[in-house]
Amino acid sequence: MSSQKCAAIILGAGKGTRMKSKLPKVLNKVAGQPMICHVLDAISPLNPDVRAVIVGPDMDNLTAAVAPVPTAIQKNQLGTADAVKAARDILRDFNEGTVFVLYGDSPFITTATLQKMLDARAEGISTIVLGFEPDDPTGYGRLVLGDNGDLDAIVEHKECNDDQLKIGLCNSGFMAVDAAHLFSLLDQVTNENLKGEFYLTDLVELTNKAGLRAGVIKASETELLGVDSKADLALAEGLWQGWKRIGMMANGVTLQDPSSVYFAHDTKIAADVIIEPHVVFGPGVVVAEDVIIKAFSHIEGATIDTGADIGPYARLRPGAAVGVGSKVGNFVEMKNATLGDGAKANHLSYIGDAEVGAGANIGAGTITCNYDGFLKSKTIIGERAFIGSNSALVAPVIIGNGAIVGAGSTITKNVADDGIAVVRADQKERAGAAPRFRKIRAAQKAKRAKK
Ligand code: UD1
Repeated sequence: MSSQKCAAIILGAGKGTRMKSKLPKVLNKVAGQPMICHVLDAISPLNPDVRAVIVGPDMDNLTAAVAPVPTAIQKNQLGTADAVKAARDILRDFNEGTVFVLYGDSPFITTATLQKMLDARAEGISTIVLGFEPDDPTGYGRLVLGDNGDLDAIVEHKECNDDQLKIGLCNSGFMAVDAAHLFSLLDQVTNENLKGEFYLTDLVELTNKAGLRAGVIKASETELLGVDSKADLALAEGLWQGWKRIGMMANGVTLQDPSSVYFAHDTKIAADVIIEPHVVFGPGVVVAEDVIIKAFSHIEGATIDTGADIGPYARLRPGAAVGVGSKVGNFVEMKNATLGDGAKANHLSYIGDAEVGAGANIGAGTITCNYDGFLKSKTIIGERAFIGSNSALVAPVIIGNGAIVGAGSTITKNVADDGIAVVRADQKERAGAAPRFRKIRAAQKAKRAKK
């Protein structure tokens, strides 16, 4: 993409009081991914030389989530300019190019818009502000333009005069600033304003005062959506899912009831896949073509190969890999397990920490007993093996190629290729005993009813 040098500072220190949660606000997820990671994804194609995430004190979980991107702590929330200054150390060697200021709670910022800001910087404008025209500008800083279309100042809503309040063009907060001037201008920002905060927005007037130019690039209100509450989060999720569903259908995926299917940020589905209603994809799913995923299935961290038939009510957990033309039927759960080409597990099974060979048949109610309360162990089932219904395979155990396990068996020892293993008590039968049994029980019942 861009050959212009850039760096990015992403603000994430806000606690997000309105979220009413102990989780740092920017760790709330949209499409199964923390909002701040969406922002990091958007800047990534511009190949920033340096990135810095600003976190609040005690936000180790945020630091871990953005690693290896370095973080700097903003100790006290003294304002947006103070937050940006916290990145000074991380950016100390980045003195030429553009520094983006991005917000971890605005997950929909696009690479294309960031590229436009970079292009505007290349035209010799020192400070670029991303503006938008919201339906209701209340609360936003207003962008005051000069006669030449350059940006004269940003005035916070509370500090606007009547004329300025009529301005519809607002500050999104996103900026692209000449690295050569950013920190020297920030050093001049004071907190002499109504909120007593160090406003990043003061950078615009300071840019002009220094004889440099400031300008505006516009984006849509939706792209700049900021998430401050759980209601905003749900709105963001709904918007994202709507876009993704349309994208999936445009790529040839059939969604019978689009609004009931939920995707994750990285879901990859090939053309000619059919998805029935009420299917949820967690992160890390890849689906090859001609697969059908039937209703009420939940799939995460799984790969599904060509022509497989999944569900209804299937649960594929991380590490599940379903082979070409395989079948995973109702109430079957797979975790860290492979199902070879053409293998079937059609009903009511748990297949965990297992390898199932091609063409094997896993009968209804089969369980791989992979956990003894302390350690996990593996089950290997050979090609074309047949596991009878309601069998428990106690791992570690190997069932050979072509072997048969009789229904109801609890298998604790390996079964050789082509062997038949049956583990259950012998059946006993008393000839003609049923009528006598019925007679005795009927008499007992009648006696009880009289009491
Ligand atoms: C800011 C802008 C305003 C703009 C609006 C868009 C300033 C002074 N004003 O106002 O012009 O229209 O965003 O939403 O910049 N933050 C920190 N540390 C701080 C203060 C803020 O990390 O010390 C983070 C917040 O968590 C938040 C973001 O910066 O994610 C914006 O801060 P906030 O105080 O909410 O600014 P606004 O009043 O919304």
